[in-house]
Amino acid sequence: MGQFRFLTGGESHGKGLIAIVEGMVAALPLEEEYINQELKRRQQGYGRGPRMKIEEDKAEIMAGVRYGLTIGSPIALFITNRDWQNWQEQLSVSPIEKEVEPVTCPRPGHADLAGVSKYGLKDIRPIMERASARETAARVAVGAIARRFLEEFDIVIRSHTVAIGPHRWERPKASSVNWGQVEASPVRCGHAELGKAMMAAIDEAKASGDTLGGIFEVIATGVPIGLGSHVSWDRRLDGRIARAIMSINAVKGVEIGAGFALAGLKGSQAHDVIKPLTRTLSLEGRGLGEGEGKQSLRWRHATNRAGGIEGGISNSEDIIVKAAVKPIATLASPLPSIDLRSGEKTKAHYERSDICVVPAGGVIGEAMLAIVLADACLEKLGGDNLKETLANYRNYLSNIS
Ligand SMILES: Cc1cc2nc3c(=O)[nH]c(=O)nc-3n(C[C@H](O)[C@H](O)[C@H](O)COP(=O)(O)O)c2cc1C
Repeated sequence: MGQFRFLTGGESHGKGLIAIVEGMVAALPLEEEYINQELKRRQQGYGRGPRMKIEEDKAEIMAGVRYGLTIGSPIALFITNRDWQNWQEQLSVSPIEKEVEPVTCPRPGHADLAGVSKYGLKDIRPIMERASARETAARVAVGAIARRFLEEFDIVIRSHTVAIGPHRWERPKASSVNWGQVEASPVRCGHAELGKAMMAAIDEAKASGDTLGGIFEVIATGVPIGLGSHVSWDRRLDGRIARAIMSINAVKGVEIGAGFALAGLKGSQAHDVIKPLTRTLSLEGRGLGEGEGKQSLRWRHATNRAGGIEGGISNSEDIIVKAAVKPIATLASPLPSIDLRSGEKTKAHYERSDICVVPAGGVIGEAMLAIVLADACLEKLGGDNLKETLANYRNYLSNIS
């Protein structure tokens, strides 16, 4: 990450989450309500645990915005954890008299065992608190700022659920996803029947004390050609996206475009041939004035197996990313583990938990992709004020050969 950076802080059941966002241009319209809509989307999804009924995530903008416009200084955000009320002893910042029962039976698949060993702790609680995906609420808030910025370039980012457990829906083409249906679906699936099957699978898993994983897909449309670079490993856009998506809790695989399927194809079947266009394709963005700096591409890729990136550079096609989400590690019928105090066999720790987080994962994936693309846009276009960045964009588009 270069131009657009952020850090988050906060424990799952602490007072709240904070994020400090650096590098956003001045004069970008930004309101709390815009951020809160995204937070709400993250909280939904069939298969979430009771925690999401307690929380009603709202971000408070503490700095960096004046009269509804960014001012170029770091943007500071705060999201209250309502549940903190119930955890004041376990998460007390000051020492307390009372002895709180430590968590000592690590959950296989969670950060518990590696975390306590690494940090030299006897109680798993601090590890669970920060490894929890509650932290992703802060990322979604940061992602909303990135999304607001990308809107100025007509870049739109959406996600949908491809699979939950054994039920999988492959969309034939990006255009065939009914996004209204996805947003209305409790599992964010664009296929009604499969959506129902996914919900039934979640119910079944819940009834047997189990959990489920799956796959979500994130698609960015309107991305201009030329974000990222082939020249150095850490500037490659595909590498930056893969890292950002893989950093989401429980994501264990990332695929760009046809990804793993490409490995089994011949070169003649795998690549997206370039064809001339008789009709020119406009790259005009919302920020561009009428007829100003307009650039039209005279070609198009016949297919998009590359997922919009070639040589680490965006190639003007949709950016398509899939992520494999493993089943949640906290099981109501806990897996075998040991008690770290005695070394004896026991069951893993259990506390209130989600059953399936694939739908929420998609919303978090959108945020992470937005953050990477905002960063790549700022790197490509520069500027300290939105007007300047948009002028640079116009200039860039009118000079593409
Ligand atoms: C939105 C979301 C919610 C999650 N909720 C839970 C949960 O309730 N219980 C749980 O054990 N893991 C949950 N996880 C997954 C853990 O945070 C994750 O498995 C853990 O941090 C270990 O990291 P790893 O799976 O990436 O190795 C959730 C993940 C996401 C994306």
